[in-house]
Amino acid sequence: MKTSVVIAGVELKNPVMTASGTFGSGEEFSGFYSLSELGAVVTKGVAREPWPGNPVPRIAETRSGMLNAIGLQNPGIDLFCRRDIPFLRQFDTKIIVNVCGRTVEDYCEVVSRLAEEPVDLLEINVSCPNVKEGGIAFGQDPRALQNITKEVKKAAAQPVIMKLSPNVTDITVMAKAAEAGGADAISLINTLTGMKIDIYRRCFALANRTGGLSGPAIKPVAVRMVYQAAHAVKIPVIGMGGIKDAEDALEFLMAGASAVAVGTANFMDPFAAPKTAAGIRQFMENQGIEDIHDIIGCV
Ligand SMILES: Cc1cc2nc3c(=O)[nH]c(=O)nc-3n(C[C@H](O)[C@H](O)[C@H](O)COP(=O)(O)O)c2cc1C
Repeated sequence: MKTSVVIAGVELKNPVMTASGTFGSGEEFSGFYSLSELGAVVTKGVAREPWPGNPVPRIAETRSGMLNAIGLQNPGIDLFCRRDIPFLRQFDTKIIVNVCGRTVEDYCEVVSRLAEEPVDLLEINVSCPNVKEGGIAFGQDPRALQNITKEVKKAAAQPVIMKLSPNVTDITVMAKAAEAGGADAISLINTLTGMKIDIYRRCFALANRTGGLSGPAIKPVAVRMVYQAAHAVKIPVIGMGGIKDAEDALEFLMAGASAVAVGTANFMDPFAAPKTAAGIRQFMENQGIEDIHDIIGCV
């Protein structure tokens, strides 16, 4: 049975990866299972300098989901290269480094710094709703997205995945802009901008007022957008948004995703990602599916 997929020339043993920001760099989770069970590990976004992130409270539970406004807290590229990459290299899995920044130059510097590192793919976060500059500013304007994609591609040694925001009117316009800029793949969706009010304290639940909604609540929106994006571009699509098990993941694969990422579900069940990979295999066995490509984009 063939469960491996290829994203921009990089072979993943199975189509399941972790979603950026929900898995750290895998260290805590490696106490539960071997990260070699995953197709890839996607790291938390890393910037040129350490960022402290937003003031607390910065997470809040919602029905069937959560809001976060972490604000891309990260240790900066130097510590990340010294500490996190060598840790991840111990495992037989692909390493995808998620990159964030405030300006095009910021992104390009981090990407060039990673050129000498043993990482397999880069994921460029132009869709974070929780930072004022950079981030989503690039992800909501197709011309800015095409331009940053082009610049990042020039600086990058590894293939580039552009991570798209769902906070747009037409996801196909953004998918095409990333493709036109030279992206090797796209991933979607990042979180949907939301708000929660604490009615007893009569204030915002998050210090940042707004946050990004993730978890099962967003899955149908994510499946729809993955389907639309996969039909708009020729490059591979990585699908995410509310996946907690194999059944969820299979919806994304059938909608046209070549691989999937498990995010918020990691907080509820640390085994969610390997269980999803095993469940896809089990589904294929039960249904007599020999090659995962027979179900990718089958609807
Ligand atoms: C706490 C938290 C932190 C996140 N940090 C990042 C990040 O650093 N970079 C990024 O591209 N996406 C980040 N995301 C978005 C996720 O990678 C994912 O796109 C989104 O949560 C939808 O998937 P899910 O519903 O399975 O969580 C974050 C999400 C959460 C919940």
